[in-house]
Amino acid sequence: MAQLLTVSRAAHLIGVSRGSLQEKIGSGDLPSFDGMVSTEDLTRLFPDIRLEDSGAFERITKIREEAFGKRVRERVLPNQEILAQRLAAQGEELEDVRRHLAHYHDLIEALRERIDFMAGESPSEQLLTLADFVDDGLASVLGSEDPVDTVAVMDDMMRVVAAHVTVKPSGREFFVEGNETVLKAALRAGLAPSYGCGNGNCGLCKARVVSGKLRQIHHTDYPLSTVERDRGYALLCSHTPVSDIVIEMLEANSAEDIPEQHVVAKVKSATPLDTEIMLLHLQTPRTNRLRFLAGQSVTLGVTGSSGEFRAEYPVGSCPCDDRNLLFHVRRDAGDEFASRLFDGAVKNGDAVSVWGPWGDFVLRKDSTRPIVFVACDTGFAPLKSLVEHALAIDATDTMVMAWAATRPDGHYLANQCRAWAEAFDRFRYLPLQAADPAAAGVAAVRGVVAEVPNLADFDVYVAGSAAFTDAAVNALRAAGVADSNLSSIAY
Ligand code: FES
Repeated sequence: MAQLLTVSRAAHLIGVSRGSLQEKIGSGDLPSFDGMVSTEDLTRLFPDIRLEDSGAFERITKIREEAFGKRVRERVLPNQEILAQRLAAQGEELEDVRRHLAHYHDLIEALRERIDFMAGESPSEQLLTLADFVDDGLASVLGSEDPVDTVAVMDDMMRVVAAHVTVKPSGREFFVEGNETVLKAALRAGLAPSYGCGNGNCGLCKARVVSGKLRQIHHTDYPLSTVERDRGYALLCSHTPVSDIVIEMLEANSAEDIPEQHVVAKVKSATPLDTEIMLLHLQTPRTNRLRFLAGQSVTLGVTGSSGEFRAEYPVGSCPCDDRNLLFHVRRDAGDEFASRLFDGAVKNGDAVSVWGPWGDFVLRKDSTRPIVFVACDTGFAPLKSLVEHALAIDATDTMVMAWAATRPDGHYLANQCRAWAEAFDRFRYLPLQAADPAAAGVAAVRGVVAEVPNLADFDVYVAGSAAFTDAAVNALRAAGVADSNLSSIAY
């Protein structure tokens, strides 16, 4: 018998994006029942999916991780105890189904006997027809040799290794893999949950478990009250699910929902990307991570013998990895922080203060429109963060990255863009060259217009110097992009 799955779950199993399944639902190719799709219809639409091919989900995840250049890779099978509990939960479910089936079978047998009894007392055409109907029905069920529902079997396997989480009231869904905490999995899936320390001390990640079971996997110092425990509250940073769960969780809806923070991070590395750009990798303490939205900026500060040097930079990494913060710092004689970095005065292990996050240059909430990113030089950094976030939440299937450089060979992370374009069918990368930022703005939009004829249907994000963003925004308006679909950041 076919099972019904949510679109997110089906997309994970088949290894396609949620957007492409939704497209098939919209075109009528995939029937949907209250937002659910059946395993039978999925098998019909994706006949090549096989059990031995059940790595589809892992495959797409791997592509995404590689495309992101993600560092954290401890997503493996759950530990034995969690695995045992998830199997036990499935066993209970199976037992329930068996009990119900046995009950219905007894009922049908009793009904059949009752028909025989009534037919014996006063035989009638209707009773004999009814008896034949029940006999045929029983014979077809008991003698059924329906083919194995591959997608349903894959779903059962998936439940053991990855628990499914539904968030209320947003309705967002994600999977918790291996021994991840619910918080970590939510961040990886691109959600913006409420949290603070990530370490069981602050209580900010507390959420109510509406259904399903959690198990504590990390020690916590934050004391939940008895009333909170009785109501099903738990700390998401220290628990993992042992079954599919539904939780009520606070999420940031906009940049205003993220509090200002001060974190003292350490320099993990400073690596030249070319002669003019330095990749600065900061790592926060485990107990004091930076909560931010993709596209936001922070102020960095280092202290030297002649005082403190501060500068504001966009974060060039994904909020899903909140301990590892990446920045693309440009050589600039007027920027003391950058000068010290290029001079080698900022060394691995040095403390760097991080204040923020700042700004509302973030993805438009709940928009599923296709996206164009337009960058000039290090304007690529906040757009990289937005691309990683858009990929994590499956925001849209179609993305275009137009990156204009004002220096020869100024596309210092071209490989990253090519990896996205190779991993995702509908990701296009347009590298462009221009003499100066204003010319880059015009050239980038001209390139985008040639590539995307229906530009007015896209959300457009522009980042670079003021001269670049002014030129690009004017050109985009002239090309028919409404201000409501246009975001820009100049720095
Ligand atoms: S984030 Fe602080 S207790 Fe969970």
